[in-house]
Amino acid sequence: MTFLKLMKRFEGYVLGIETSCDETSASVMFHDKILSNFIASQTNLHKQWGGIVPEAAARKHTEAITLCINEALLQADIQISQINAIAVTNRPGLIGSLSVGVTAAKTLSMSKQIPFLGIHHIEAHILSPLINQSVSFPHCCLIVSGGHTLIIKVNKVGNYQILGRTIDDAAGEALDKCARAIGLGYPGGPAIEQAAGGLTSSPYSLPRGLKGPTYDFSFSGLKTALRVLAEKHGKHLDVPSAAWSVEEAVTSVLSERAVAACKDSGCNSLTLAGGVAANKNLRNKLTKECDANNIQFIPAPNEFCTDNAAMIANVGSIRMANGQSDNLNLDVFARAELPTEEVDL
Ligand code: KG4
Ligand code: ZN
Repeated sequence: MTFLKLMKRFEGYVLGIETSCDETSASVMFHDKILSNFIASQTNLHKQWGGIVPEAAARKHTEAITLCINEALLQADIQISQINAIAVTNRPGLIGSLSVGVTAAKTLSMSKQIPFLGIHHIEAHILSPLINQSVSFPHCCLIVSGGHTLIIKVNKVGNYQILGRTIDDAAGEALDKCARAIGLGYPGGPAIEQAAGGLTSSPYSLPRGLKGPTYDFSFSGLKTALRVLAEKHGKHLDVPSAAWSVEEAVTSVLSERAVAACKDSGCNSLTLAGGVAANKNLRNKLTKECDANNIQFIPAPNEFCTDNAAMIANVGSIRMANGQSDNLNLDVFARAELPTEEVDL
């Protein structure tokens, strides 16, 4: 059994940079310790449009990137001259947004003569539960974000077996769309969680997507059903109850399938990552179901759930310790398969 905490790490300071969507973030890591993780969120900017406007996101990253890097260095109490390597998200994500981070990384790499590596954003989410925590391989990971919903068997770093995935909307995307349909704010996940408050039941019943047995998900019917419900009840719709029903529909299907996939694939630990992993209802359900099935449940610490550069530095530290680096031709990609370069454990 191998534990990530015992893995070879880059011997030096790694600067992580994340700009794939609407968070500008920089982090400093030394060996396996996160020294800083500064995040400048653009949520307030995009709220007015009810979703992310890619051009506005890229411009905001341009404005914030140097400030974020300086802040991460300051909080880590080191100088830029002490940075030994850079890890930067280059895929998948919004092209304009990714370009800002990658250009900053290339510029620093060139001027300081230090190596850099492009990081897959989803691999960074997958390995984020392992920052400051120990976990054995293989394990299963439920990754739930605004763009992805996957159940993965993590055999090794770089050896990812997809057991289940959404066939339409991602869980976070579904929550964002549902929140909009009932007049709640953006981003929808936290807005729904807040609106559902302390409720434990609701008069409304909403569909759960695909019928089992399957490890896949379908969330697109949920928003349609919610719209029909909202139209039927008009101003008499009880918004907290509707929010609770949405949250319940999403979190129950996620936890049931993740635990089933974990059991059936012979793993005895399950990790949870991505923005939706911050949801308390989901965490509570998984804690209960894992307990009942003798599975160790290891959610990512809250601060590493939504997009952040610490998770990028984390993958950089593992991969660069194994000799990987990129050259100045590194490109950015809107879509990308998970990496297949395995790291020796
Ligand atoms: O991982 P992330 O920060 O960005 C992507 O890579 O997509 O995930 C963002 C998603 C959004 O859809 C947001 O509504 C959701 O995560 N989210 C939540 C919570 N916090 C963020 N969903 C449910 N409950 C939360 N507390
Ligand atoms: Zn993300």
